[in-house]
Amino acid sequence: MKQLAPIFSAIILLLLVHGDEGSSSTAVGDPGMKRDGLRVAFEAWNFCNEVGFEAPHMGSPRAADCFDISSKRNKSIRKYQSNITSGYSLVHKVSDSDNKLGIGQRKSGVISEAALQNPDLYAVEKEVYLGSLCQVSDKPNPWSFWMVMLKNGNYDTNSGLCPENGRKIPPFNQPGKFPCFGTGCMNQPVLNHGKTELLGDGHTMRGWFNGTYELEADLGNGFDGISYYEVVWEKRIGVGGWVFKHKLKTSPKYPWLMLYLRADATKGFSGGYHYDSRGMLKTLPESPNFKVRLTLDIKQGGGPKSQFYLLDIGSCWKNNGKPCDGDVTTDVTRYSEMIINPETARWCNPKALRNCPSYHTFRNGTRVHRTDDRSFPYEAYHVYCAPGNGEHLELPVGPCDPFSNPQGQEILQLLPHPVWGEYGYPTRMGDGWVGDPRTWELDVGGLSSRLYFYQDPGTTPARRIWTSVDVGTEIYKDDEAIAEWHLSDFDVLLT
Ligand SMILES: *[C@@H]1O[C@H](CO)[C@@H](O)[C@H](O)[C@H]1NC(C)=O
Ligand SMILES: *[C@@H]1O[C@H](CO)[C@@H](O)[C@H](O)[C@H]1NC(C)=O
Ligand SMILES: *[C@@H]1O[C@H](CO)[C@@H](O)[C@H](O)[C@H]1NC(C)=O
Ligand SMILES: *[C@@H]1O[C@H](CO)[C@@H](O)[C@H](O)[C@H]1NC(C)=O
Repeated sequence: MKQLAPIFSAIILLLLVHGDEGSSSTAVGDPGMKRDGLRVAFEAWNFCNEVGFEAPHMGSPRAADCFDISSKRNKSIRKYQSNITSGYSLVHKVSDSDNKLGIGQRKSGVISEAALQNPDLYAVEKEVYLGSLCQVSDKPNPWSFWMVMLKNGNYDTNSGLCPENGRKIPPFNQPGKFPCFGTGCMNQPVLNHGKTELLGDGHTMRGWFNGTYELEADLGNGFDGISYYEVVWEKRIGVGGWVFKHKLKTSPKYPWLMLYLRADATKGFSGGYHYDSRGMLKTLPESPNFKVRLTLDIKQGGGPKSQFYLLDIGSCWKNNGKPCDGDVTTDVTRYSEMIINPETARWCNPKALRNCPSYHTFRNGTRVHRTDDRSFPYEAYHVYCAPGNGEHLELPVGPCDPFSNPQGQEILQLLPHPVWGEYGYPTRMGDGWVGDPRTWELDVGGLSSRLYFYQDPGTTPARRIWTSVDVGTEIYKDDEAIAEWHLSDFDVLLT
């Protein structure tokens, strides 16, 4: 017994130390973006969250940059030469040829016959494959990567590419309703990739994705008139966390662009995507029991039309409250996001009730109807739009765009306001904006449990389980707008 005592105390100590890390209370595989061996991927979507057509020589618009650190340190050398050579090296898990995979290219056991000539399906299977190369074993589930998501908002109604509320429709002519310069406006971008490497100091790691939608652009003349996106990630080995530096620029041909960094579900659907996806959320957060922590430093806002989302959460459930099952005619994507650009217009107001949710619920549970103009906090909302297939919507109501998702969607956009302060969100327009970098700890679970979402009368309320949590901007629509921001410390905490 005497000999066992020290072993027991060692075990207890181990448990304590392990418990201290709080690893059991995070929903993401890489809490706080601190893991030296990074896992990051790229995906590009067309207007209705598909591929449509691959860009020439770019392959399917999915790529990943994943590596582990190998340390061949020799302590006796280090003592004298610590600043000359670190002895570290990066062992990459995804090859350039994996990243270049695209339609027509076979890969046995990875790409099915059905996907071989189908750009939409090819991307799905490629993402699952890249996810397997990057996968990290963990509890309760393995995870794959942070996801950089880029979306082109151009819509050519004559292309026949997008369904209407999940139902296939023939091409139609509606000039001017959506941005599009003509045939081919829904193209995928050029994707350049600087694989993460160790810089000359032996300790700093850096990698990047960048590119443009103007496939023929001559970049020698700079970016005037040309769209541009870039994400650079950087970290020192063993110190702090990764900083993701984003840039997004629109152009006359591509005036509506979105760039986000997402923590997505590790399997099944993620917000707005009706295929199996791979991501970072090893546990799916459910309202009201989670918080999100992150540091956001906005360098350039992206102009008055930049809908910068301090946080966007996405999920899917049917109007009867049941979980989505892949039937796009009844599945409905649900989004909520807070727009922190202080130039954002207040579309919801007593004279435009169609832009407001039916009611607001205060934290104490008191519910006020939108017609109660003495109590309803109109200024807390930018706009509400309803699912196109909602059968018992309260009028007046504005339906969401029926084409820009593979299925119907419902969106509730918030603005900084004192009613959100109780959840740690910005309370004043301008909080957290350019020149006001902050670390936020947002009670996203608490807030999202009280938001209005449509449901058929008499049905059991849906479980609000979020399959995507992301940050970034949607510039809608502006010709030469530039947004630039740094994101770090991202974590989703289960409370
Ligand atoms: C470490 O470096 C010392 C001095 O150069 C050398 O003698 C020793 O063999 C090295 N050890 C290993 C494990 O490489
Ligand atoms: C290494 O450190 C020494 C002493 O601090 C300094 O003189 C030298 O310039 C450093 N070398 C490099 C490559 O940084
Ligand atoms: C992407 O970044 C690299 C390295 O910084 C740069 O040389 C290249 O011009 C960029 N590509 C585009 C399309 O801007
Ligand atoms: C709940 O909070 C709201 C807003 O602060 C307040 O007007 C209302 O009186 C409160 N209700 C109760 C029952 O405390």
